[in-house]
Amino acid sequence: GAMSYGATEGYQPLREQLTAFMAAKGVQGLSPEQLVVTTGSQQGLDLLGKTLVSPGDKVIVEGPTFLATIQCFRLYGAELVSAPIDGDGVQVDRLEQLIVEHKPKFVYLIPTFGNPSGATLSLERRKRVLELAVKHQTLIVEDDPYGDLYFGEAPPPSLLALSEQVPGSRDCLVHCGSLSKTLSAGFRLGWMIAPPELLAKAVMCKQFSDANSSTFAQATVAQYLKAGRMAANLQRARAVYAERAQAMCDGLRSALGDAVEFVQPRGGLFVWARLTGARGQVQDSQVFAQR
Ligand SMILES: Cc1ncc(COP(=O)(O)O)c(C=O)c1O
Repeated sequence: GAMSYGATEGYQPLREQLTAFMAAKGVQGLSPEQLVVTTGSQQGLDLLGKTLVSPGDKVIVEGPTFLATIQCFRLYGAELVSAPIDGDGVQVDRLEQLIVEHKPKFVYLIPTFGNPSGATLSLERRKRVLELAVKHQTLIVEDDPYGDLYFGEAPPPSLLALSEQVPGSRDCLVHCGSLSKTLSAGFRLGWMIAPPELLAKAVMCKQFSDANSSTFAQATVAQYLKAGRMAANLQRARAVYAERAQAMCDGLRSALGDAVEFVQPRGGLFVWARLTGARGQVQDSQVFAQR
C-alpha cells in the first residue's frame, strides 16, 4: 500500500496520528476527516491561494512575514496589506482597522516564533484575534510550523486550540502544520485543518496538483508517530535549536554590540535584528564574517 497512489485527503493512519498529535496540543473535538495531509505546509498555503484568491483581492499579512507566502499569494493576484507587529506579535487594534478598511479575503498570521520576526502573539492578543474574526466574519489563516520548538516555557496555545473559548471562531479559522522543522523537511509533509466547505475545495485543487502526498512518506511517519517517538525527538530538536539560537545571539552581540538590537528568541529558528545606527554604518562584510 505504501508504494501505491493514495487518497488525496491523506493516508488515513497518518490523519489519525496527526489528529491525536493536535489533541495533545489542546485542540479539542477534531476528527481525522477535518484534517488533510499536504505536501509540506507550503502546499496548504498554495491551495488556499488557489481556492480563495482572485486577482485584486486583499490579503492581510504581518510585516514582516514569510517570503514564500508573499510570492505565492501574489502569484494568484492578491494585493497584500501589511499589519505592523511588535514583540507580542501583530498589533490587534491596527489589525482591526485594516480589516474594516480593506475587507480582506483572509488574514495570514504566523502567531508563534514567526518567520522572520521571531515574534510570538501574546495570549491576550490571540483571544482578541479570534474575537475579531467572529466580529468581522474574517477568515484567519494560522501558519504554525514552529510552535513545538520552544526553548523554555511553552508558548500560548495555538489559535486553533483557543478557538474552543471563543464561540464561532473555529468556523473562521484555517490551521497549517508542518513536520519540516520538527522531524524532516525531506518528507515534504504538512497538514491543513479548515472549515468543511473550504477543505473540500482545497482537496479538489490538490487532486489536480499532486493527486496525493507521497504515500511512502506518509506511511513512514504514521508508523513513527504510532511508535511514540515524536516526544523524544522534539526534546532533542528543542535542545539543538536552543543552543544554536544562543550561539547566534552571542555572535551578534560580540560582533556588532550596540549596533544592533534584538529580542532573544524563546523558540523557533529566527532572530530579527534591527540596526540602531550606533557605530556608524555596519558593513555587510562584518555580518557575513560572523556567520
Ligand atoms: C512560516 C512558514 N510557513 C511554511 C513553511 C513551509 O514549510 P514546509 O516545508 O512544511 O512546506 C515555512 C518554511 O520555511 C515557513 O517558515
